[in-house]
Amino acid sequence: MAVEYITSRNMVNLIYETLRLMNKSMAHHCMRVSYIMSKMLEERGTYEKYEIADLMVLAMLHDVGAYKTDDVRKQLTFEAKNPLPHAVYGYLFLKYLSPLDEQSKMILYHHTDYTKTKDMDYRYLFELETLKVAEMADIWHRSFGDKFDVTLFDRYSGTKFDPQVCQLLYDTEEKDHIFEKLADGSYKKEFNESMEYILLSDDEKEKYLKMLMYCTGLKDEQMVSETVATIYVCRELGRKLKLSETDKNEVYYAALLHDMGMLAIPSELLKAPRSLNVEEKNLIKTHVEIMEKTLANKLSSDIIRIARAHHERFDGSGYPYALKASGMGKTEAILQISEQVVNAMEPKPYRPAHTKEEIIEDLNAGIISGKYEAIVADTFLKNYDEIMEKAAQRADAALVTHQKLLRNYKQVYKSLV
Ligand SMILES: [Fe+2]
Ligand SMILES: [Fe+2]
Ligand SMILES: [Fe+2]
Repeated sequence: MAVEYITSRNMVNLIYETLRLMNKSMAHHCMRVSYIMSKMLEERGTYEKYEIADLMVLAMLHDVGAYKTDDVRKQLTFEAKNPLPHAVYGYLFLKYLSPLDEQSKMILYHHTDYTKTKDMDYRYLFELETLKVAEMADIWHRSFGDKFDVTLFDRYSGTKFDPQVCQLLYDTEEKDHIFEKLADGSYKKEFNESMEYILLSDDEKEKYLKMLMYCTGLKDEQMVSETVATIYVCRELGRKLKLSETDKNEVYYAALLHDMGMLAIPSELLKAPRSLNVEEKNLIKTHVEIMEKTLANKLSSDIIRIARAHHERFDGSGYPYALKASGMGKTEAILQISEQVVNAMEPKPYRPAHTKEEIIEDLNAGIISGKYEAIVADTFLKNYDEIMEKAAQRADAALVTHQKLLRNYKQVYKSLV
């Protein structure tokens, strides 16, 4: 599927914004590491600008595993004292769920000493050593403040870090004064300038957009399986209703990203085994506006229009805008009904799964009251068994992928301790 809906530059922006939703200070750390690394590679003088930009995206994602394995609010602690879990999980996440499978090993070893990595036969060995130094440079720079000096690396040159790369850091700092720029924030301008050279293929954009959806699984796996099932129901309804290719694609991307705003909602609320109070419910409802704000000006507005209406209802009883039938069309209705039925078919920590009878009754009542768009809801009802059986299979398959990742996690982890 061609992704003409987002530019390469906006894709990178969107990745960064997604990391920010999960935790701002971690996202800043990742941006700074990415910047330090880019300046070092620039100083080395052997890379094309687009190669540096590619590696910058990887560096931006170097700690992505931590969102699963650690309390990201305590970044300095896990990075310094127990870095293996996030390194292993981040590696597997990028290997299986991003276009960076070849470079993903850099994430696996980004906290491993040079003495252990130096003889590795790996295409990105030098870049790995650079990432390690860049990451520690940012951590030390933040921890030591004014007392930070690049010669802090002297003590570990040849043991923890590659001496050549330590030298590269000294040269980069001497020429570019990168730590001054990091301290006063002016590095962001250079970061953005270097990132202008990013050039992603359609296939890479497609994979990155999917990866963003998988990020919701870093918080709660069930969100991924529900989204996968929702995408399936949308596709089947789109087919049966003979949507145009453009409409089908737009519904697909809207379904893929519709709940990404949940990344900003505390996990305790998402997994609470009880009914939530009004205030908590309202907080969860903000996920729609958060998603809309995050995607705004990056992704095609038609996709955002569909995604932001996933909790709206045709009688005006939905949120956040209480839109009515006149303001929505078939594409919005498809996502609304798909999301609604998948949500109902899955058990929640605070209630069991709804039965087929309950789901059908809700839809029928909603058609009569005007809550659901009648043609779409009717199409779904006519094909209930066929669609729902496969939707459930898709949801299960997504959980299996997750379990496979966890199994691999245990294996890789064991092999490294
Ligand atoms: Fe880090
Ligand atoms: Fe790390
Ligand atoms: Fe939602």
